Amino acid sequence: MPSFTFQLNGEEVTLDAPADLPMLWALRDMLGVTGPKYGCGVGVCRACTSHLDGDAFQPCTTAVADCAGRTITTIEGLADGDQLHPVQQAWIDEDVAQCGFCQPGQIMAAVALLAANPNPTDADIDAIENVCRCGTYVRIRKAIKLASGALGVRS
Ligand code: FES
Ligand code: FES
Repeated sequence: MPSFTFQLNGEEVTLDAPADLPMLWALRDMLGVTGPKYGCGVGVCRACTSHLDGDAFQPCTTAVADCAGRTITTIEGLADGDQLHPVQQAWIDEDVAQCGFCQPGQIMAAVALLAANPNPTDADIDAIENVCRCGTYVRIRKAIKLASGALGVRS
């Protein structure tokens, strides 16, 4: 079986796996990284959203071979030790989560959005395609704006 090496949440990981194995399966079932959730498995719900080289991606539709030599960040790698990422803190401050299932993916999508666009409009935020069956979209919008301000103060 081929071997693939990549960075995962700040650590180098080497995995023996089929080249076409979806990275979500590798993360959850082989590496015990369960923050990225399995919703649809076909790139639609975006519950698995994580970062590949800093950009939002869906590991359910990305093969392990395509991640070799690259850097993956999941929700587990977002905080700096005990210091939450400003987006995570904003999520708490705005009490965003309901059932919580979609929320790791929502947060990772929000972090990627703010990295590309520090002051997103409502339309920019609404362009995030992550699905929330609990309908937390209004609070997500508030939290992203709160985090946008916090990140602005920081920079
Ligand atoms: S599990 Fe639905 S997009 Fe990945
Ligand atoms: S909080 Fe329940 S699906 Fe989003």
